[in-house]
Amino acid sequence: MQIGLIGLGIIGRNLALNFSDNGVAVIAWDRDSRSRAACPSPVGVAESLPEAIARLDRPRRVLLCVPAGAALDDLGAQLAPLLHPGDLVIDGGNSHYRDTIDRARRFRQHGIEWIGLGISGGEEGARHGAALMVGATAALLKELEPVLTAAAAKADGHPCLALLHGDGAGHFVKTAHNGIEYALMQTLAEIYLALRHGFNLSGDNIRKQFAGWAAGPLSSYLADLTVRIMDGKSPDAGLPMLDSIRDRAEQKGTGAWAAIAGMELGTAIPTIAAAVGARIVSTMPRESGIRSNGSGTVVADQTEIARIWGKAAECAFLAAYAQGFDLIAAGAKAFNWTIDPVALARSWRGGCIVRSAMLKSVSESLAAAPAGRSILLTRPLRKSIADGLPSLRIAVRALAEFGLPAPTLAATLAYIDALFGAPLGANLIALQRDQFGRHGVERMPTSDGRKA
Ligand code: 6PG
Repeated sequence: MQIGLIGLGIIGRNLALNFSDNGVAVIAWDRDSRSRAACPSPVGVAESLPEAIARLDRPRRVLLCVPAGAALDDLGAQLAPLLHPGDLVIDGGNSHYRDTIDRARRFRQHGIEWIGLGISGGEEGARHGAALMVGATAALLKELEPVLTAAAAKADGHPCLALLHGDGAGHFVKTAHNGIEYALMQTLAEIYLALRHGFNLSGDNIRKQFAGWAAGPLSSYLADLTVRIMDGKSPDAGLPMLDSIRDRAEQKGTGAWAAIAGMELGTAIPTIAAAVGARIVSTMPRESGIRSNGSGTVVADQTEIARIWGKAAECAFLAAYAQGFDLIAAGAKAFNWTIDPVALARSWRGGCIVRSAMLKSVSESLAAAPAGRSILLTRPLRKSIADGLPSLRIAVRALAEFGLPAPTLAATLAYIDALFGAPLGANLIALQRDQFGRHGVERMPTSDGRKA
């Protein structure tokens, strides 16, 4: 097997080594001569793009690991005259799925296939096994499966490779993955916030709580990572590393794309959208002065904290997965993609940023859930939500009492309350819009079953 790899940044260089270790010959190129020089053997490095392409057997497979957007379009324009009908270009960046659909259409007019590949797992995943999400025609998926399997992480002996039918499906699914990623990260941040600035626990105690959750039902890459972060000490004062980092977090935009896709497709993804909003708020100018703490009391027993806040986080994690998979189902319907959600959830059990033990029950619920119905309403998740809901309510109330923002936990609570039958007040909205716009209302059946 052989692949051309263009772009030797952190992800490209590590993927090149990963492919080489797994029996795929790599011919690589980067426009920066220092990146070319730094690329270790056995990766074959070409001195120019035409040389890299010429050294590949036909039909060529060329994987692009360059930033999405203008840089990618420039590279596409340079590549087009070097390729022949039957060649494949795989975009391994975080491109917008609509751009991928568009590029696939344009390149196909010249007999060249442009395929979107979502790659998750950062530097470590690229080097030792990533989660891969590829969208293409059935024939191309079959052709690409062996080479992508070589670079994919393995979980329970299965490659973490999602084969998705349709142009743009790989990048759409990666966008949904990133929406979930934002929600899980924000949930962990809100729990940390409560322990650090609400309960005022020591760094060691906070670490102990997170280590307990990471070893239990929250077992996940991101919970483990959080525990590792808590082990870090600031070089100057020996304080916890976290205390020396500014309270703001940037984003590159894929989380926002997920939130926008949710709105466009009419899919409620409030936990994800709240996490995106929270990141934006963290970068806004803020000032101290009118912050008020509530007057209520919050129980601070350590065992209770472990139970209540662990369960609250579990509810938000499950809501994030449920909303992510709802978004994927809506995307598949709108764009005519064939996506097997159960196989996708299985493929996320290794390599990617959202990998977690919980994905096992998520995939069982995906297999059982009727189309259009949230997996949270389906066993076994229904039971987990019922068990966790009282704790989630306590956590949201506590954060409000502490005067600490909990957008993801609060959005999750409202979402779950609504899903599990709380009245919504939508009858008032229905009547309001009917009064001013004659939009019609649906009447409740009368007690004898007739429509009034
Ligand atoms: C992954 C990640 C990765 C993403 C970073 C940064 O799955 O490996 O999703 O692709 O680029 O996490 O994302 P933000 O800058 O938007 O936080």
